[in-house]
Amino acid sequence: MSRAPVVHYVPIPRNIIYKFLDPLNLSKKDVLWDLGCGDGRILIAAAKHYGTRAVGVEIRRGLARIAHRNIVKYSLTDRAEVIHGDFFRIRITSATAITLYLSTRVNEALKGKFCKELRDGTRIASLDFRIPGWEPNSIIKCNDGIRSHNIYLYVFKRSKYICGENAP
Ligand SMILES: C[S@@+](CC[C@H](N)C(=O)[O-])C[C@H]1O[C@@H](n2cnc3c(N)ncnc32)[C@H](O)[C@@H]1O
Repeated sequence: MSRAPVVHYVPIPRNIIYKFLDPLNLSKKDVLWDLGCGDGRILIAAAKHYGTRAVGVEIRRGLARIAHRNIVKYSLTDRAEVIHGDFFRIRITSATAITLYLSTRVNEALKGKFCKELRDGTRIASLDFRIPGWEPNSIIKCNDGIRSHNIYLYVFKRSKYICGENAP
């Protein structure tokens, strides 16, 4: 699996951000990781609205810079941060919640990492793309006014999921 950015930048429509985040039941105690955070809009919503600690990883330098600028603009540097890099190479063990807006192929490749690094009970929300082979706890449908979306919700449990080729 290539570690290059195989997923194009398509930001989540702003009018469905809370439909995406609400089912994660975020609180100040959570640490949310947005893998591929783009301009940081999910980090900002999570930190501002739920008081969550939010960490984003973005491989495209220009977008990582924009995300950082947006965090500064909203005075959220105490709660939100962006790491410029490849999320396959960054440990995400602090996560209690994860957001994904990637692709089925990348979600498949992340399974081994999740199995190595996530604790049971970590909530995962994936917009429009399943984690192949993992049964979601629920699927929520929503519409941004132009098209409809599926939100796949998972509560990670190591004993429940098949961990993929990179599994321990
Ligand atoms: C569809 S966009 C979603 C952006 C943001 N999460 C949102 O919902 O607005 C996917 C993002 O993931 C980034 N990305 C893809 N592969 C990556 C990787 N291996 N490491 C870090 N970022 C990655 C892309 O550059 C892009 O900005």
